[in-house]
Amino acid sequence: MNGESVDKKIINIGIIGCGGIAKNHAFSISLLENNARKIWKWKESSQKIKPVLYALADINEEKVDAFAKHFPAKKNYKGANAGYELINDPDIDAVFILVPTAYHLEYVLKAAEMGKHIFLEKPAAFSSDDIQKMIDARDKHQIVLQVGLVMRSTSPIYYLKKLLSDNKDKWGSLTNIVYSDSQQKPYTNDPTHPSTWRRDKDKAHAGVLFEHDIHDLDGMISIFGEVDEVYAKVKYFAGYEGIEDSVAALITFKNGVTFTMNCMWNDINYDCRKYEIFFEKAKIRIIADGRDEKLAELYVQYLNEPEYEIKMKTMDEYFFNQIGMPHVNSEIPGPYYAEDLRFINAIVENNIESEIKAEYGKYVHEVIEAIYRSNEIGQVIKFKPL
Ligand SMILES: NC(=O)c1ccc[n+]([C@@H]2O[C@H](COP(=O)([O-])OP(=O)(O)OC[C@H]3O[C@@H](n4cnc5c(N)ncnc54)[C@H](O)[C@@H]3O)[C@@H](O)[C@H]2O)c1
Repeated sequence: MNGESVDKKIINIGIIGCGGIAKNHAFSISLLENNARKIWKWKESSQKIKPVLYALADINEEKVDAFAKHFPAKKNYKGANAGYELINDPDIDAVFILVPTAYHLEYVLKAAEMGKHIFLEKPAAFSSDDIQKMIDARDKHQIVLQVGLVMRSTSPIYYLKKLLSDNKDKWGSLTNIVYSDSQQKPYTNDPTHPSTWRRDKDKAHAGVLFEHDIHDLDGMISIFGEVDEVYAKVKYFAGYEGIEDSVAALITFKNGVTFTMNCMWNDINYDCRKYEIFFEKAKIRIIADGRDEKLAELYVQYLNEPEYEIKMKTMDEYFFNQIGMPHVNSEIPGPYYAEDLRFINAIVENNIESEIKAEYGKYVHEVIEAIYRSNEIGQVIKFKPL
């Protein structure tokens, strides 16, 4: 941290990539900045923490200018070298790397070398070897490296683990998990989906699975642990090389749980993830409709009793309690806020591995690679042990 102690008062944050997801993070950082005193209130007076959105960078000048209107920062870096200039800024403590996947590795290695803490959006890289290089750089330079696997900070997914454990005897065995995700193609350059790089394999590396459902697969891994086998069919209806838009996969966890995934990109004005989790005597439904105000809904049905909803407030409060921050206002919205809070807190706590380790990014990457391999050879892939 530029030779300074990690418990400094101000944590200056730079955002590289002022696009879609940057809005979520900038919003979260500004909320964290405004609520810092409450969030880190138990700290010694010498450890007053204040994260600050300090700098913006983008290769596209207009993106920085438009972004800065909503989220002004002290410094703006624009043009081809903007990301590197931001990384080289000695006043910056942490960077959020929010650019297409192709540029993740170089920025991470450079930022680590400069001693910056790193929040890296998913998918971490093009290959698990590249993610290992990032992990090695983290260890060498002793910085926090957190990957944006946001389901680990999404309270309904977090709460699911508690529901499973609390109701183990009552509900009987978990028999099936049926997951589906349909999203309108995120690369049409229309106002809803303004990116085009997601159809270019040199920039995105892959399609719907790496770009979208990596979250859900990782969420299930966070609950059920190691994967045993995968079997999958992967298709490319839109015809963009390497950019899959349909995946049907059967994932079996080492504990015997089976998870079927159906993931698709299409032209339908619909953006919805659904989980149905069946037990011998009960059923859980989780719905996350991307166009709905409600971020996610979770319903439980036991035998023939009426289905009931578990309130988001209950799940949020449980989540913040479990991560050791019971006083965080759970009315503050959303999982990006929660994951950014955990990242900044890892810096505060000098927890180099962070709670959302880069190793998780590597593991889910390898499971997804196994899914593609299964499709290629038409066989079940036995997954290697951790
Ligand atoms: N966690 C999530 O839910 C989530 C959601 C969306 C995107 N993402 C991830 O975030 C990253 C960015 O996605 P997005 O949707 O914001 O994309 P986007 O296209 O909306 O924005 C990317 C921005 O990066 C800029 N950029 C491109 N190359 C650059 C470079 N080399 N240096 C600096 N700036 C550069 C572009 O000009 C653009 O402003 C991707 O890794 C994506 O997978 C995560």
